[in-house]
Amino acid sequence: MFSEKQMKIMAFPHTSYDALICDGAVRSGKTSVMSLSFFRWAMLSFTGQAFAFCGKSVGAVERNIVTPLLAVKWVRTRFSVKYNRGDHVLIARDGNRENRFYLFGGKDESSYTLIQGITLAGVLLDEVALMPRSFVEQALARCSVSGAKMWFNCNPENPLHWFRQEWILKAQERNALHLHFLMGDNPGLDDATRQRYRNMYSGVFYQRYILGQWVMSEGLIYDMFDLTENVYKQAPTGALYSSTRYIACDYGTTNPCVFLDIYDDGEVIRVDREYRWDSRKERRQKTDQEYADDFMEFMGKDWCTVLVDPSAASFIVALRQRGAYVREADNDVSDGIRRTGTLFARRRLLVNEANCMGLIDELGTYMWDDKAAQRGEEKPVKQQDHGPDALRYFVNYLPDWRFE
Ligand SMILES: Nc1ncnc2c1ncn2[C@@H]1O[C@H](COP(=O)(O)OP(=O)(O)OP(=O)(O)O)[C@@H](O)[C@H]1O
Ligand SMILES: [Mg+2]
Repeated sequence: MFSEKQMKIMAFPHTSYDALICDGAVRSGKTSVMSLSFFRWAMLSFTGQAFAFCGKSVGAVERNIVTPLLAVKWVRTRFSVKYNRGDHVLIARDGNRENRFYLFGGKDESSYTLIQGITLAGVLLDEVALMPRSFVEQALARCSVSGAKMWFNCNPENPLHWFRQEWILKAQERNALHLHFLMGDNPGLDDATRQRYRNMYSGVFYQRYILGQWVMSEGLIYDMFDLTENVYKQAPTGALYSSTRYIACDYGTTNPCVFLDIYDDGEVIRVDREYRWDSRKERRQKTDQEYADDFMEFMGKDWCTVLVDPSAASFIVALRQRGAYVREADNDVSDGIRRTGTLFARRRLLVNEANCMGLIDELGTYMWDDKAAQRGEEKPVKQQDHGPDALRYFVNYLPDWRFE
């Protein structure tokens, strides 16, 4: 049933520790068992209390915690459990005992204000290393009920990440139990699945997500991008036609300006063409109006959603004046890189090798900024990053479940 490591999660409520930290590899059975142990502890030890289930977004908490929890037979038969989607609250009853579990998303702005007003008997922070530190601290500060416990889990990031510095390395002084997980600690994974996950990552991502190590990012960012597996010469007949089309734009006046023509069939994403104007190379800068004209010509008659660098305010206005449907892109760099890397590794993201030579070149020289990494910041070197930036804007527009 449970592995030895997972048994320790189940036993945690019966220890004198105030906090539990589970870090390590992906798919290693952290979230599922932690949710169950948390719920069991809450329902058997308290009544009339509020608890928090926190994740990156409320949607992620629904998918990773609530749905799996409601699928557990013991939970459904032993308790009466109702999840209210509108209010993001799960209410569980056992006879006349009742507790509430509120869902919060660390990156949802509304969550930040909502959690400030609540008194909690416990908080579960799923994928805590991906949440803003201020949100996590706010959530922890709300745990004022006597007997409250804090439960954390995450995959490794940069070794200087605040969560490692403040919690993992200080586990003893914070009276926290620290458990480190590998895929072998999840008895539910068969060899084929384990192998599939191993093949999905390379480089820094392999060390972090498979070996479970907190290592610095260095070198090539997309070392999983493969010049045979991630490119195509011609899309299969009808593949582009039956896809949803997007154009992603990274705007620049002195720097190059790039548009990517992207087709998503729901499984495979194809970057089919690129537009590129490098004013230094061409020795001429274009105005927003000229760029917008070029854009309309690039888009042609088949209009689509346009994702633009959010800082390119004047270009966005010029496109909107021409009637284009423009969305300001989400410029979260680390999310975008993690997600793009996952799609490349799964071979779900392909690039037309003849039409997108600029993008392919840039993907091959897109490097981590080693100096920033030494300070605990993860970001790419700011050079020849225009194609990869535009690609991130598109990838950040996809819903979370495309990466799970
Ligand atoms: N003891 C078990 N027996 C059977 N299946 C299990 C067991 N533990 C976990 N699983 C299943 O394995 C899968 C991965 O588990 P889980 O989501 O808990 O991993 P995780 O460590 O949180 O992964 P990630 O780091 O990717 O979020 C889930 O589908 C879960 O239901
Ligand atoms: Mg998890």
